[in-house]
Amino acid sequence: MIEKINELLRQVEEFTPKTAAEVEEYRIKILGKKGELNALMEQFKSVAPEQKRELGQLINRLKQTATERINTLRQQMQDAAAEQHSAIDDMTRPGSAEQLGSRHPISLVKNEIIEVFSRLGYTVADGPEIEDDFHVFSALNFPPEHPARDMQDTFFVEKNPDILLRTHTSSIQVRTMEHQKPPIRVICPGRVFRNEAISYRAHCIFHQLEGLYIDEGVSFADLKQSLLYFAKEIFGEQTAIRMRPSYFPFTEPSAEVDVSCNLCGGKGCPVCKGTGWLEIMGCGMVDPNVLRANNIDPEKYSGFAFGMGIERIAMLKYGVKDLRLYFENDVRFLHQFDTAL
Ligand code: PHE
Repeated sequence: MIEKINELLRQVEEFTPKTAAEVEEYRIKILGKKGELNALMEQFKSVAPEQKRELGQLINRLKQTATERINTLRQQMQDAAAEQHSAIDDMTRPGSAEQLGSRHPISLVKNEIIEVFSRLGYTVADGPEIEDDFHVFSALNFPPEHPARDMQDTFFVEKNPDILLRTHTSSIQVRTMEHQKPPIRVICPGRVFRNEAISYRAHCIFHQLEGLYIDEGVSFADLKQSLLYFAKEIFGEQTAIRMRPSYFPFTEPSAEVDVSCNLCGGKGCPVCKGTGWLEIMGCGMVDPNVLRANNIDPEKYSGFAFGMGIERIAMLKYGVKDLRLYFENDVRFLHQFDTAL
């Protein structure tokens, strides 16, 4: 029996098959149900006890050697097959086109707005999405009973009234003022969260881009001119803007900014609801209380801030009527922006 096992061991080591089928055949012959190894195991049962130890070890060695050899051979055969498959057999055969992805329209518009403001000297600032009350509300002059702090608008984290998802990216402006002295000129793009019912014109997650400029002698005229430049760059040279008085806790005076409807040229159409104007953002002069809360002397410095929803700008720019399309990632929708890469 020892002779037989040694003979098999030798055979296994010398086995050099040419095809995968040969390997499989050999596997069945040695390791299969009715193979050599099982036959040996059968014989092993009737071996004298004093021989069992030596024989057992030998059979185990055979089993291990055969299994390893067969696995190695199989792998070699597979690799060889793959190599053959990938070899270029016809250099003139047309290549297969890769399907390219495209940038999401929100990214496209965001990058375009960033580019416009970077030409005016603004840099991009970032901040956390999970914020505290101070950076989202208190430092921005929100009175304690302001409805935006309410559960209806704000998502709180684990019922802790101090930790929340930012409802606007103004929190990044506060963080910028914390570690930077004027002159400050930043834009703050990012995701924001509000507890709103989802519809064609509202979502509980959306993107904002806000701006802040603080220096000596910054005036409302500077604000107006910067926003006019922005509107012309994004919506076209013929675009006009108008400002309507408004209210934000962190700016005084405050305004809503409208651009002339570029679909009807200001004559009035269903998109602008007959008014000739489309609302695009809020803005205003930074309230002295906000400057003070952020250790900036309001006697010496003044500034302006503005904030817009990127989805809103993208809807107007591309004529998209339902805001939810931006979140569904339907490739039929997204592919329409391929060329805009
Ligand atoms: N933070 C405001 C909002 O989320 C937008 C805004 C920014 C308005 C800056 C005025 C000045 O609605």
